[in-house]
Amino acid sequence: MPIHYYEKSKSFKLDAKDTSYIMAVVDEEKFLGHVYFGERIPDEDVNYLMRLDEPPYVPSKNNRDRMSFLDSFPTEYPTSGLGDFREPCLKVLTKLGATACGIFYKSHKIYKGKPKLNGLPATFGNEDDCTTLEITCVDNHLNLEVILIYTVFEDLDVITRSVKVKNCSDEDIILTRVLSACVDFDRIDMDMVTLHGSWAREFHVKRRKVELGKQAVSSSRGETSHQANPFLALMDRNATEDFGEVYGFNLVYSGNFLAQVEGCQFDTTRVVMGINPFDFGWKLEPQEEFVAPEVVMVYSNEGIGKMSRTFHDLYRNHLIRGEYKNKRRPVLINSWEAAYFDFDTDKLLRLAREASKLGIEMLVMDDGWFGKRNSDNCSLGDWVVNEEKLKGGLKYLVDEVNKLGMKFGIWFEPEMVSPDSDLYRAHPDWCIHIDGREGTLCRNQYVLDLSRKEVRDYVYESVSNILRSANIKYVKWDMNRQLSDVGNCVLPPDRQREIWHRYVLGVYELMDRLTTEFPHILLENCSGGGGRFDPGMLYFSPQIWLSDDTDAIERLKIQHGASYVYPVSTMGAHISDCPNHIIGRITPFETRGLVALSGTFGYELDVTKISQEDKDMIPKQIEMYNKYNNLIYNGDLYRIGNPFENIEFECVEYVSKDKNEALVVYIQILNRSNYHSRRIPLKGLQKDAFYRNEETNEVFSGSALMNGGILIKGLQGDFRGKLFHFVHV
Ligand code: DGJ
Repeated sequence: MPIHYYEKSKSFKLDAKDTSYIMAVVDEEKFLGHVYFGERIPDEDVNYLMRLDEPPYVPSKNNRDRMSFLDSFPTEYPTSGLGDFREPCLKVLTKLGATACGIFYKSHKIYKGKPKLNGLPATFGNEDDCTTLEITCVDNHLNLEVILIYTVFEDLDVITRSVKVKNCSDEDIILTRVLSACVDFDRIDMDMVTLHGSWAREFHVKRRKVELGKQAVSSSRGETSHQANPFLALMDRNATEDFGEVYGFNLVYSGNFLAQVEGCQFDTTRVVMGINPFDFGWKLEPQEEFVAPEVVMVYSNEGIGKMSRTFHDLYRNHLIRGEYKNKRRPVLINSWEAAYFDFDTDKLLRLAREASKLGIEMLVMDDGWFGKRNSDNCSLGDWVVNEEKLKGGLKYLVDEVNKLGMKFGIWFEPEMVSPDSDLYRAHPDWCIHIDGREGTLCRNQYVLDLSRKEVRDYVYESVSNILRSANIKYVKWDMNRQLSDVGNCVLPPDRQREIWHRYVLGVYELMDRLTTEFPHILLENCSGGGGRFDPGMLYFSPQIWLSDDTDAIERLKIQHGASYVYPVSTMGAHISDCPNHIIGRITPFETRGLVALSGTFGYELDVTKISQEDKDMIPKQIEMYNKYNNLIYNGDLYRIGNPFENIEFECVEYVSKDKNEALVVYIQILNRSNYHSRRIPLKGLQKDAFYRNEETNEVFSGSALMNGGILIKGLQGDFRGKLFHFVHV
């Protein structure tokens, strides 16, 4: 059993493959304390680690120093206002205006499997995959129940957490913060790694020392954002890709979040993660429950690389759902960078005809097909086909594309409304807004108030009508602005702060309806690229457009950072035109293909206009994608290069689960003068097995390849790449 309760020490022990996580109930008052998180240990009782025999002791022995106890005790789920001055997870506002609360252990249960989280995406598993512990704590003064939920995926080496808060009193109470997890580490000598960026520059890796005081990564933009990802890792100061202890935390949520590290007075470190308390409020009526989103915790004793592989395995098998979960995705061509708003049926069919000859399998019609949308200034919300552009209608176009043997996909931005739209003219109050205040525009659009059922119903019906009208196999769900002016005209003042979270729940409900009614559609999420690339979205769509920056060299960094947490199979990656539309860089067509291989692989350029030489390469690239796709999507990823630290090269390796096959993707970024060939030691192979280099037929042991390495030779110029494929002999 991966979860034990030991009566003698009153401790809970959660054991995954290489990880132990331990809590204990202490003192007569039954405080729930955090004891240990790290490499798996066999012991039943390590409660000495809490140092309760040292001053200030426990309140039953020394209540005069209760505050000192509360402020230093490693608390499992800290609350506010009673004397723990570190960052709390739970804070309330009572009718009297009081904000304090304090919780104590009441009961627990352990069972096989994993509960669903009402209305929220979460990892899933059956009775053979995982075991769950629910610890109920209470604040008897407020009559509030706090249920801490832990699930252990033993084989995958993962622990997940979430929290339910239940109002058992007969009065309303307002929750002003409900974070999902806290871990108090008994050390401060660690580094913190987070993922930051901007539009078209997402997932840049930032590593810094944990210091005294607070350091956070967060979003208050209504989506997880380009600027920050809901991921945080703490690690040994000398941890590397393959060495050292690493603790990864990732929030399964798509709205405002906070992931914070606090270096505290006694050189301990508190990590908290959950919905951002910024502007948050939730009124709980008697007997109502609030459910906080899930945090996934991964411990690695072999560096950042092992942490990533654990996240990848969990997400590929226990988060992503549907037909395309582990399946090769069709090679698509997207009209955005090929034509922007300037297309009609003829142009799209010309594109499709040429693409189908080259082996491309699906045409995706991006923005610009509806209302009177010829620029980004109008028509969002009016999901009616523009028949001036699409002469003969949508069905005609789709049928013609199908006749070429190609599938058809379509773009929507369901969450938005343009001021210049029939929808806005009919329902100006349907967008998120503050009554009487002029709303802040972004890309000339407002955000629809998806916290309202009638708005969601309209959006669902208008989008699904289009999907029902033709043979559509793929939807790109875009979202091109962040939330401001948050308010609406339906909720009372004391519930206005709920809109942020209700909005996210509304998006989830819409995606749930869509994927339930159209299970065969491949859904690709997008938010101006990677503005909402998070596990919450991956629950609904197996892939997300990673960034609007399609430049192969910029993508190396973006893909590298994203792979810290997210599997390569989830990263939308296309080969686009040169000079690149975002950055103006020129890279060889071949290199663009090698970079897009570490992603969902597609095209986003006008294939009727490219050179014959580039065109000739497309069937070969598709052959390469078909050949390696299973290995790349389902194998283990090893990062060998690091484009944030070394601008000369990036290198990733994919190793099959049975270790019989490996693919090395090497990209030379900037060449170096007067330099010999570069030696690259491989990773993850079987030491004693022998592998054949498919290109040269040379055979070497796994040991030689991992300790000696391979030599990269003869790549003249910048931005060049090469593949190496090894098979077990
Ligand atoms: C932003 C997306 O990231 C692009 O790929 C494209 O779909 C545009 N929106 C269309 O407006």
